[in-house]
Amino acid sequence: MHQDLREILITEEALQARVRALAAQVSLDYKGRCVTLVGVLKGCVLFLSDLLKRMEIETNVDFMMVTSYSGVQSTGVVRTILDLKQNIEGRDVLIVEDIVDSGLTMSYLLKNLSTRQPRSLEICTLLDKPSCRKTKVPIKYVGFGIPEKFVVGYGLDYNELYRNLPYIGVLKESAIAKGKKSCP
Ligand code: IMP
Ligand code: MG
Repeated sequence: MHQDLREILITEEALQARVRALAAQVSLDYKGRCVTLVGVLKGCVLFLSDLLKRMEIETNVDFMMVTSYSGVQSTGVVRTILDLKQNIEGRDVLIVEDIVDSGLTMSYLLKNLSTRQPRSLEICTLLDKPSCRKTKVPIKYVGFGIPEKFVVGYGLDYNELYRNLPYIGVLKESAIAKGKKSCP
């Protein structure tokens, strides 16, 4: 385990098994159709690539980058940093996200993407912290429900660190207090 972690919440094996199951479910639900996966950068990268590898239907991938976070704190104001390259009108769109916390990012994305008239629009999130919700969001696919803890790994970061860990872990308070940053 990484020295800055207090505990491993979800092991690599558990992540891989759950992602395989999610990919099978999505493949079944969208059978005979092409699904456009909209990855929310950067947290989605490991989850999206593992999910994509296991998909058994036609897929199309695009990305968005939005921001509301600084360190462990949400600023509450969501902004688009990078928009989709493709037109999603008439498409079956599945948003792929690392974690839904307050729900503010997701509700912004749902509102934003639905104005482009996709055929369908659903959410697939690896992690869900339902106790932190500030606004209701309809999530179709959830990997794991987790408690109100700041987690890192498998794409999730703290100041851009720890995304490379193959598991999900809980940061030590001391690591947060240090306010460490990547690549100084
Ligand atoms: P929300 O808008 O509060 O739902 O937050 C969504 C975004 O905040 C996620 O896509 C993550 O990028 C980030 N985030 C929320 N909770 C955590 C966490 O525990 N660890 C790392 N990033 C998080
Ligand atoms: Mg995210």
